[in-house]
Amino acid sequence: MPGRKDFFNHPAAHTLAKSGIVADYFARWAAKLVQSPAGKIVYLDLFCGPGEFDDGTPSTPLLVLRTVLNPPPEHRQRLEVRKRLLERLQCVYNDVDPQHVEQLKEKVEALANYTLLAHKPLFYTRKVEQGGLAKWRMVVGEHPTLLFFDPYGYKEVDLQGIDEFIGPYGSECILFLNYHALRRAASNPLMSGHVKEVLGGDAVEKFLASDDEDSTPDANEAKRIILQRIKDRLTQRHGRYVLPFELATEQGSTFHIVHVTKRFEGHDLMRDRMARHSVPEWSPKSPESVPSFQYVEKSQLWLIAPSFFQGRTIDALARSLLEASGEYSPSISFKELYERHSPGRLYVKQNYKAAVRLLVERGEARVEKDGSEYSRKKLQAGKLPDACVIVWNR
Ligand SMILES: C[S@@+](CC[C@H](N)C(=O)[O-])C[C@H]1O[C@@H](n2cnc3c(N)ncnc32)[C@H](O)[C@@H]1O
Repeated sequence: MPGRKDFFNHPAAHTLAKSGIVADYFARWAAKLVQSPAGKIVYLDLFCGPGEFDDGTPSTPLLVLRTVLNPPPEHRQRLEVRKRLLERLQCVYNDVDPQHVEQLKEKVEALANYTLLAHKPLFYTRKVEQGGLAKWRMVVGEHPTLLFFDPYGYKEVDLQGIDEFIGPYGSECILFLNYHALRRAASNPLMSGHVKEVLGGDAVEKFLASDDEDSTPDANEAKRIILQRIKDRLTQRHGRYVLPFELATEQGSTFHIVHVTKRFEGHDLMRDRMARHSVPEWSPKSPESVPSFQYVEKSQLWLIAPSFFQGRTIDALARSLLEASGEYSPSISFKELYERHSPGRLYVKQNYKAAVRLLVERGEARVEKDGSEYSRKKLQAGKLPDACVIVWNR
């Protein structure tokens, strides 16, 4: 895996996967937010890099901007939406390395259709430090902002700052986290102070107590503790929904993309996009299968396959719904069931439809639409409109 020095030589597979998720989510986030009446929407990339690898492969900032300037087929928008995007998008790029910023500026300005952007991108060369996000809010104003926070390591990671940052409407953050750097630093007395600053309190002790590189279950437990701590810190004030996606490299390193938002719609949208970027692949055409919410380099698939789904199956989801049915009694619309039960769970809407179908087949529930029984044939075909009502048979 490339180190910092050669990070931009050529892209590692997991780095491409990261850029793909960010650009894909950005395109959909932006298209949604420009439906509001007026004002800028901002993409803020605080660790932007030069935009391109030495081998010419474009990286996240360019991929993001291309979804607006030269959208690939999957990101083409209606003319009206594209017009609004060009009128309202403000990109703000920062990197402590002035050379990176200079290179990015050159690449961005050379993009086809660059002149169509009403607000030309802003470029900064500030050093991002813990506690500094409030200043960035002043730079971008109160506009809805998608913050991409992608440092090399973890020292700059400011979870509480991110939670504060996403306060204004439509603001969200995608954080890229080097789990192995955190794990190594936690066991190094010279570095563990930084880890404490990032994760707070007794995180380091808990982490070390559960962590053992040779033991898979303990290593998974350490990961769980860290992710839970990250979630807790991101949801103290504004953050409500946190979604992790794991990237495993051939060399056995682990990274996470963590998305945080206070809107269910954003959470749900990111869940759908992460599901589609999962490797092993998941397709909405097979609702019976559960996405892994991981990107695993192909040569590693055999190694960690057993831990992919952590007991997540349609049957487990159906049982979980049944256990919780008392809260949704005597009946609940599918939309409400999905919005109340799914947050934080690594299942997509298609999985919920499959789980409801299973409950109906088992006689645990029935589905109604407009007061009559809903067509079983349609249910079998995976069709379950939001307005359908689930009635528990108890
Ligand atoms: C992982 S790379 C970013 C890659 C980029 N986001 C992409 O997808 O192409 C990290 C970048 O952060 C920059 N950097 C490192 N420390 C920084 C700091 N404290 N403040 C701002 N930028 C920093 C580095 O120069 C480097 O370009």
